[in-house]
Amino acid sequence: MEIAIINGPNLNLLGKREPEVYGSMAFEQYLDQLKEKFPQVNFSYYQSNIEGELVGELQRVGYTHDGIVLNPAGYTHTSVAIGDAVAAIKAPVVEVHISNVYAREDFRKLSHISAKAEGSIFGLGLKGYELAVEFLISLSPSR
Ligand code: DQA
Repeated sequence: MEIAIINGPNLNLLGKREPEVYGSMAFEQYLDQLKEKFPQVNFSYYQSNIEGELVGELQRVGYTHDGIVLNPAGYTHTSVAIGDAVAAIKAPVVEVHISNVYAREDFRKLSHISAKAEGSIFGLGLKGYELAVEFLISLSPSR
């Protein structure tokens, strides 16, 4: 089973970036744990700070993969184009946010992604990615 994890801008700085909000683990380190936990899953991982590149990756994996875990980061709150890409593709998308976006600034309460995604997870730290993967596995007929 193929699951794509796509992270948006500044998530390449996880571990160094506002650790009181996002924790102190780099995503690559967490990804190793995910791979160990789900040996039946073939993970692809993509991170970009550029909106159009994220749209391109959603289009690339969106017709071939069994599911996508997407943290669009800051683009969540601004990007009609990423929301449109999520609506366009066939693979189910779970939106993940590490922090509780509803407990932060008001501008983080708007998501252009949530209505197009299967569902959203927020505020559970990196654990949200693992829960999203579990959900996507549960959708797969070949699990
Ligand atoms: C985030 C929340 C966004 O509001 C923020 O811009 C991010 C990370 C999260 O994972 O909590 O960059 O998506």
